[in-house]
Amino acid sequence: MDTRPFAPEPAPAGLAATELPSPMPLMALSTGFWAFKTLAAAHELGLFARLSGTGGTTAADLARDLGIHPRPAEMLLTGCASLGLLERSRGRYWNAAISEAYLVPGAPGYFGGWVAMADKRLYAGWGKLVEAIRTNRPTTWDPDVQDSLFDGEDPAMLSLFWEAMHSLSTMTARKLGEAVDFGRFDRLLDIGGGSGAYDIELCRLYPRLRATVYDLPHVAGIATGKVAQAGLEGRIHAVAGDFFGGAPLPGGHDLHLLSMILHDWDESRNRVLLARSFDALESGGAVVISELLVDDNKTGPAPAALMSLNMLIETEGRNYTPAEYGTWLEDAGFRDVETIWFDAPGANGAVIGRKR
Ligand SMILES: C[S@@+](CC[C@H](N)C(=O)[O-])C[C@H]1O[C@@H](n2cnc3c(N)ncnc32)[C@H](O)[C@@H]1O
Repeated sequence: MDTRPFAPEPAPAGLAATELPSPMPLMALSTGFWAFKTLAAAHELGLFARLSGTGGTTAADLARDLGIHPRPAEMLLTGCASLGLLERSRGRYWNAAISEAYLVPGAPGYFGGWVAMADKRLYAGWGKLVEAIRTNRPTTWDPDVQDSLFDGEDPAMLSLFWEAMHSLSTMTARKLGEAVDFGRFDRLLDIGGGSGAYDIELCRLYPRLRATVYDLPHVAGIATGKVAQAGLEGRIHAVAGDFFGGAPLPGGHDLHLLSMILHDWDESRNRVLLARSFDALESGGAVVISELLVDDNKTGPAPAALMSLNMLIETEGRNYTPAEYGTWLEDAGFRDVETIWFDAPGANGAVIGRKR
């Protein structure tokens, strides 16, 4: 018999347990932004950089260092510890391994660029999600003023966007390079290659590979800078161009990559891009579409389905399924289409087509 005074009476034998599901997932869903904003605030305040390589901090020390009241200092440290971003022992907090690896500026796997972009750009756009759903228009830029997400941006927003993409793509490229064997290819054309993160990582993994980053003129300059920082100027070149423009895509490549490109555009533009890729690719070569792929039955997974909604607030595209890509690839002339799954922040798989 339970002798605790406040223990509930056991349910009478034979009474059916309640059929209602737990509401707890709804609480977790509706407060998801609390966790994100805690991470974003700690990053913006430089908490992880401050704690890197130190013996940790107390709430009082942090309050003094940041010139803030001890109350929010303690709350921020407790909040970060609750999320697994900090660890605590003997009254001091320090970076958990994940924060030390990814949230300290200058670390090889620095992910803070993405955190800052999600906070300063995407968060505001998602605040107007209902508007985007009702109007079928993006909310992070004005389609009456710009042609696409990729033109007419102010320099501060561009640099925020590119630091974010570079963070996300560096990690994703490593996983792609491990999941797919690129060993038999010599020349990569990275179509809309952005900062060149994929080219840098794939060239590091595959010593015989050389790469061309093909992107709009102002972005090709960003790629040139990142490639120089990586010391790979001898193997990676940036070429300025418009993949929807009059000129064909550059020839002489046996491997094409489309990473986070097709989710920016609608089906008709994507079919044009795949046809252009097919025309420019060498026979025997392959095209690789790297994306957060939505399942063919369109019920998930959540990272892909929610990236798709992110494309609603940012672009005219959405995240597509392997079946959709497979049909477009076949229609463009590619054969032997297969999907290889992996786990990375910016992609969960690659759909690959071959040109015989
Ligand atoms: C979401 S980013 C992906 C960048 C890169 N592939 C990656 O995964 O890190 C889309 C890229 O497409 C490029 N882009 C957009 N329109 C383009 C066009 N008409 N011609 C060439 N590149 C374009 C953008 O400049 C941007 O670099």
